[in-house]
Amino acid sequence: MSVTLEVSNLSKTYGEGDRAVAAVRGVRFATEPGEFVAIVGPSGSGKTTMLAMIGGLLTPTSGSIRVNGQEIVGLRGKALAEYRRRKVGFVFQANNLLPFLTARENLLVMARINGSDMRAARARADQLLEELGLTHRRDALATELSGGERQRVAIGRALMNDPELVLVDEPTASLDSARGRQVVQSLIAEVKGRDKLGIMVTHDMAMAELADRILEMHDGQLTERLAGVAG
Ligand SMILES: Nc1ncnc2c1ncn2[C@@H]1O[C@H](COP(=O)(O)OP(=O)(O)OP(=O)(O)O)[C@@H](O)[C@H]1O
Ligand SMILES: [Mg+2]
Repeated sequence: MSVTLEVSNLSKTYGEGDRAVAAVRGVRFATEPGEFVAIVGPSGSGKTTMLAMIGGLLTPTSGSIRVNGQEIVGLRGKALAEYRRRKVGFVFQANNLLPFLTARENLLVMARINGSDMRAARARADQLLEELGLTHRRDALATELSGGERQRVAIGRALMNDPELVLVDEPTASLDSARGRQVVQSLIAEVKGRDKLGIMVTHDMAMAELADRILEMHDGQLTERLAGVAG
């Protein structure tokens, strides 16, 4: 697997007329396989909107998103669902775990949805829980987990189906810095090891600096911030 992403002229306007909000305005960027990109920028600058469009969760107003050369904008119905399910792992700002399931079951649910081999899925879930420092909480219900633990389960769940695009919105918001760094480093290892692509939105510059590149979003527009911070 060797993933490239090309975004061009990507825009999203919410609402119409007087109440229109141009959340993303003519964004363009491209990535290389194995790249882990951080996106920083003020609240309301369009970061989540852009990530949701790349993940196929939100329809752009205009522009193009190509994943391995395939145009995503304009995909509908089954093709769009397939793209989201097979290619994308999304960790949302508000991670929505299933409250009546344990940490481990929250991961396994993804494999069930995909009809994966459950023996392999259990091994994968346990490996991810280990990497994320959750082995001791594996059988705790989602409601019994701390905010940081829930966030880590959400990351594990996003990685379960081995997605090519790993899209993460504020992974470290409720993690202390040592734990946050460890989580981001597991994400980076996952992306690098398999030539995937990782995009992480964060407010935390210490986390952003772990990425290959930092892009900065301002008023819906994206600019390069620093080059080659870490490798
Ligand atoms: N569903 C929506 N309907 C209308 N406006 C929206 C909607 N979602 C977001 N917006 C607006 O679009 C702009 C960009 O929002 P977005 O959530 O992408 O910002 P963000 O950079 O992720 O912010 P934060 O750092 O606070 O998460 C904001 O002005 C926001 O109010
Ligand atoms: Mg956001």
